[in-house]
Formats: sequence, structure tokens, C-alpha cells
Amino acid sequence: MSNKVSKTYSEEELSQLPFRDESLELEERVKDLLSRLTLAEKFKLCSGRLMWHTKRIKRLGVKSYTMYDGPHGVRDDTMGKIKSTYFPSAICRAATWDPKLSYEFGKAVAEEVRDVGAHMLLAPGINIQRTPMNGRTFEYQTEDPHLNKILAVATVKGIQSQRIAACVKHFVCNNQETNRFTSSSEVSERALQEIYLPAFKATVQEADAWSFMTCYNKVNGIYGSENYNLLRERLIENWGFRGFTVSDWVATNYTSTEGCVNAGLSLEMPTSKKYSKTNLRNAFQEGKFSEETFNGNIKRLLRVMFLVGLFDDKNSLPSGNRNTLEHQSIARKIAENGIVLLKNKNALLPLNIDELKKVAIVGPNADNKFGGGNILSGGGSSVNYPPYEITPLEGLKQKCRNRVEIIETPSKADVTILFAGLNHEHGKDAEGEDKNSFELPLEQIELIKRTVKQNPNTIVVLINGSPISMDDWIDSVPSVIEAWYGGMEVGTAIANVLFGDVNPSGKLTLTFPKKLSDSPAHKSERNFPGVEEKVFYDEGIYVGYRYFDREQIEPLFPFGYGLSYTTFNYENLKLNKEKFSKNDTVTVSVDIVNTGNRSGAEIIQLYVQDIESSTDRPPKELKQFEKVNLEQNEKKTVEFNLKFNDFSFYDDSTHSWVVEPGTFNILIGSSSRAIHLQKEIEYSE
Ligand code: BGC
Repeated sequence: MSNKVSKTYSEEELSQLPFRDESLELEERVKDLLSRLTLAEKFKLCSGRLMWHTKRIKRLGVKSYTMYDGPHGVRDDTMGKIKSTYFPSAICRAATWDPKLSYEFGKAVAEEVRDVGAHMLLAPGINIQRTPMNGRTFEYQTEDPHLNKILAVATVKGIQSQRIAACVKHFVCNNQETNRFTSSSEVSERALQEIYLPAFKATVQEADAWSFMTCYNKVNGIYGSENYNLLRERLIENWGFRGFTVSDWVATNYTSTEGCVNAGLSLEMPTSKKYSKTNLRNAFQEGKFSEETFNGNIKRLLRVMFLVGLFDDKNSLPSGNRNTLEHQSIARKIAENGIVLLKNKNALLPLNIDELKKVAIVGPNADNKFGGGNILSGGGSSVNYPPYEITPLEGLKQKCRNRVEIIETPSKADVTILFAGLNHEHGKDAEGEDKNSFELPLEQIELIKRTVKQNPNTIVVLINGSPISMDDWIDSVPSVIEAWYGGMEVGTAIANVLFGDVNPSGKLTLTFPKKLSDSPAHKSERNFPGVEEKVFYDEGIYVGYRYFDREQIEPLFPFGYGLSYTTFNYENLKLNKEKFSKNDTVTVSVDIVNTGNRSGAEIIQLYVQDIESSTDRPPKELKQFEKVNLEQNEKKTVEFNLKFNDFSFYDDSTHSWVVEPGTFNILIGSSSRAIHLQKEIEYSE
């Protein structure tokens, strides 16, 4: 490794250097800058400073590369002095099943990142929701790999459209918080291929993700930050990732310097430990990593520095902005579209504002704010600080002003709206610990029971970010809404849905089990929280609905479920062929009709079932979906194109994706448990 004499340049001289020339090809600029860095400077570049920045190399005018959390809006290092848009939690965004909204979110949040002078957003978080007890379920999208992939790709594309890097996290199998720094996720190759990796891979191959964050945990015995197989072999060599990897904050604690360098970890955050000058120098001198390998890691980091415009004239970059009306309206739209109507007996909802005199509003979450929390007291790294947050109570007051009286006594009201759920305290929906209970707090269960007795027209609105048990009370409540943590506009969104200005169209992106022991991750301690710091993913590919379907367990609410104020008919399923082979495209078309009395949106889900297989396969797997807006009586035809990959499984013995000759079923449904139409098709090689 060369240790050249370093020249100090004037600003004038610097501006003449090839790497500063915006008209040159990216790779030429990267190569030029790399060739000018001394060994000591490269050592300096590969670890962080002050939590969110890389170190500067003044001599060459290399500024700090700055990265901020997170998945629900940007939080810079002023801890709230600078405000930013608080978008709905990822689980709510995912429940819209709308990649366009994920793109819009990504673009908007990236504008905010640019506005606070940063270069990378530490998001999206796309770990699979393996257990409903994960404290970070609200930060992730879904239990299903296909839905995960579509939404992750759209989010990354949105973010990077502004030349801001997305940092896809946490790679991989960081599916719980308990023992997250030390435990090993023991997972089969097939489950990795079919469940845990597809969305990560797609962000590289379909969205050119510029950064990946490693996980805290080990995967099959090796920490994410030094996992040669995951980082070097799969991500870099196999998938063709051109970006850089960054450790989760202090995730390198139990790794070795050379392990990380050789695996391809470019940047250690938040400060230098394994990548301290001394550690790097010693390991290098002892021949534990090569110059070529180390340069490769630095090159990836430099490449992204160029991609985000760190060396370019500010005027040539997309301009940022923050807290705009447009961003606030995106936040509201996502909240409205992500709300899931779980139950609506006798069409209690929507409420008719002209027929109501008094509405009672009760419950611990009626006037709670969920943004702007304290990062250490459970808020976790996804906390950000909005300029305002409209609580449900405020939203309803606004809606009812001068028309309906808002009171606090259920027995005196026409209708009661009860806001229950969780919050971001430790042990609930929060980073750092898993949930300590699958139930709502006891006092809330009692409140629900008491309230329904006082007023049978009680609507329970849940504000939380993960499945909870409802067995104790759901039968007595006519209407239930899952509103998630809906960001700074949540109150307006909820009021719009309750009063029918918005027809709910969100659908669950994960199964809500009746009881925890029904969940595949909760068969024994081995599976959760693990024994001797190993978490055995014994369920393999049978995560979420794949398991509930196979075991024929009735969930409380199935994957893909959500009601509307209108009704839809599914008709006329057609396939363009009866038989297909490897390179064919199967075109599936289906008509959908709005048969109710108001406009609305439906999410049409296409599942594939392999009727006979030599390998055990799930009874159905989501392969495509489409959200369609329909006026009253309107009919639309939706078309899906299926390819070989949509029918294949990962064959452990041949290490390849296989489709076996035989019959498949194409299932069209409004949820994983409401299949309205199906047709068979034959595959032959
Ligand atoms: C979290 C990451 C986050 C990082 C920086 C970690 O504890 O796991 O998701 O981006 O902190 O705040």
C-alpha cells in the first residue's frame, strides 16, 4: 500500500483536479480521487465522527458525508431544534399497498435530507416481520417478500431521485430486538432465498440502492458486519451492488478488523473502533487484508459520495425543501390510505355528520402525540421532530366544529370513539426491546368493555404498530379501525375516514394471530427469543400467512385483509393460455366492479399455488397485486403478467430456482383468506 507524500492544494488548484470535473465519467472521478488519497487518509475515511458524519480530508477538499435517520422522516443532529415532516410509520405506508405513495414518500423525505445538508437517509428498514412481538415491527413493512420488494424498490427510487442515498437496513435477519447485539439468526438457505433476501436483492437490482446497513446480529454464526458470504459473495459479487456498506451503529463491537475489511464493510459507524488507525495499520501490516480489498471498500464509499454530489456545484443538485404543504399532504395521504378497517358491523361507519348530535371521544391515545419522542426512552432511532402533530382528538374537533358536540361521556353520546393501542415506550412498539405483551394493557381492555356497555355504538380506533390480541373484546365492539402511527397528519386522516370523506382501502401487510402461540415464531423458546443466543428459524419459509395457511389456523385477521365502505365484485378471470413453459409470459386478467354506493379503492391480490410438488410449498404465495380506484358501478379490467420466477421455488439440493412440470392454480382474492376466483394452468418444460 503506497504511502505517498501528500500535497496540500489551494482551493483554486483543487477545482482543477479531474475528480472535481463534473463532465467526467463517474468512475474516472472516483479513480482519480482514490489515487490521490494516502493510506492514512483512507484509514480516516472509513469510520465515522460525531455520530452522523464521516471525517473530512481537508487537503483534498473531501467534505463530511452526512447521514441521518430514518424511516419516518429526517432527524438531524440538533435533536429537535430543526423540525421536519413526520411521515406515517413504515407499517402504515406499507398498508397502502401503493408503490406510488412509497415513491412520493421517498422523494419528499429526500428533499428534507437535502435541506438539512445531509447526503443519506438511514432508511428504508425492510426486515421481514417474523414475529408480532418485535419492538420494531412498526418500522418495517410486511411479512411477505413480494410486497416488501415492491414497496422497498419504490421507496429507494423515490429517495435516490433526489441524489440522496438510501441506506437499506438491516442486512439481514434482524427480526427481533431481544439480544440483537449478540444473537445468531439460524436460518436455512431456502428461507433466506425465498423470504428474507428478495427485497434486499431487488433494491440493488431494480433500484440501484447506494448503501446497505449491516445488522447487529449474527446470521448463521457470523456477525452481519463481517459476514463475507452476505456482504462480499451475495451483495457485491452476486447481486452487483455498486454502493457501500455501513455498519449499524456500534455493530462492529464483537467483530475483527480484518473480518470487516475482507467482508467488504466500507464504513464503520458511529466512530472508529475496529477501523481505528492503529487497528487497521496493524492488521494490514500483519497481512490480514490486502491493499486491493481495502481500496475496493473505499472506492465504493467514494462512488456514493460522487453520486450524491458531494464534490459538485450545489446549483447542479436537486434543491431541498422541508415542512412544505406538499410534504404534509403526502403524509396525510399515506395515513388515509394506510388505515385499515378491521370490522364494521351493521355499517356503523362511516358516521353521518348530519345525523349526529353528540360524539364521545375517550381512550389513552385520543390526544397522544407519537412524533418528537425521546430517542432513548423507547422512541428509538426512527423518531423525528415535526413542527406540529394533529392528534385524533384535534382532528375530530376540527371535523365536528359547529356541527357535532364532542363530549367525554359515552352514555350520553350517539356514538363513542375509543382510541386504544400502544405507544413508543420500551416494551411496546419501540426499538431496543421486544414487546412485553401481546395484549393491550389491562386498563384499556377494561375501558373497552366498560365503554361498550355504556354505549353499544362504540368504535375502537387502534393506534399501534404491531399485531395485538383482540380476543377479549372484539366480539362486543361493532367497529374497529387500525390507524397505526400515522404521522403528523394522523388526526385529520382518522377524522376523514370515520366520517366517510375518505373510504378506507388499506390492507394488512401481516397476519394478526388470535393468540401468540399460533404464530410460527412462537412454537418454543428456540424460535423466540432463542436459546443460548441462537434464534432458530425452524419455521423456514413458513412465515406469516404461509404458515397459517399450511396449518389451517384461523387468524384474527389474515394477511391482505381490510374492509371498505363499498363492496366489490370479482368477475371474468382469464388466462391467455392453458399451458406455459420457461420463457412464456402468462397474462391474467380479471374484472373488478364497484357494486356498492360510493367510490372506493380495492387491492386485488394474485396468489400462486403449486398443486403438486416434490418439495413442500406454501398453499399460496402473493405474486402480484394492484390497487384500483373505482367509482360507484364502475368496472375495470386488471391485467397481471406472470413469469417463470412467479412459479419457482428455491431448491436447496441444486442451489437453483426450479419450476416443476405440473398444474398451478392462479388465485385472485381480496385477502389471503378471501379468494374469489381461480383457474388452473399447466407448466411443462
Ligand atoms: C438502529 C439503526 C439506526 C442507527 C442510527 C441503530 O441503533 O438499529 O436503525 O439507523 O441506530 O441511529
